[in-house]
Amino acid sequence: MAKHPIIDDIEKVLVSEEQIEEIVKRISAQIDAYYENRNSRLLLLGILKGSVVFMGDLMKHITVPVEIDFMKVSSYGNGTSSGSINILLDLYRKDFPNTDILIVEDIIDSGKTLSYLVEYLRLKGAKSVRTCTLLDKPERREVNFDADWVGITVPNEFVVGYGLDYDEKYRALPFIGVLKEEVYSQ
Ligand code: PRP
Repeated sequence: MAKHPIIDDIEKVLVSEEQIEEIVKRISAQIDAYYENRNSRLLLLGILKGSVVFMGDLMKHITVPVEIDFMKVSSYGNGTSSGSINILLDLYRKDFPNTDILIVEDIIDSGKTLSYLVEYLRLKGAKSVRTCTLLDKPERREVNFDADWVGITVPNEFVVGYGLDYDEKYRALPFIGVLKEEVYSQ
């Protein structure tokens, strides 16, 4: 593991670079198998910002033709409704009916973001909407939601790295680590 200036803030490595590589290979092969021979356009839709590293690795391994785009959303309030999502960057597309959308996420916590986005994109008329996440934290679920492809299920710990942040830091770490409690409890 390369020495990183912020490595001292990490309690332990939860998902190593090697594990992530295996996950990316497995999921990209499953995505290839699922989408091959479809007479439509496959759009990988990354949800900013956390998904960018996973998205970049995934798109390099997928061999079926893909297009890419991004949305940015934020949740607001503490309500349990999946409607409490704010769209900060929307997806504009002329040909939704001929587009298979695969949403790429870094993590599912409450499930509100993906549950909302799947419904939103279906209402826009997408041919299909599927979901893929590197991490799944089922202990945090507030709405009933399962992704179509999950890299790895993780416990309810403060995870950072490989796109995930705390206060916008740690996104560039090449692995998923658990943040030391003293860093976020100050
Ligand atoms: C994180 C993550 C998902 C969402 C999951 O994004 O990237 O988009 O939260 O949470 P949920 O299942 O409870 O809806 P965040 O809002 O932290 O923004 P970021 O990706 O820009 O860090």
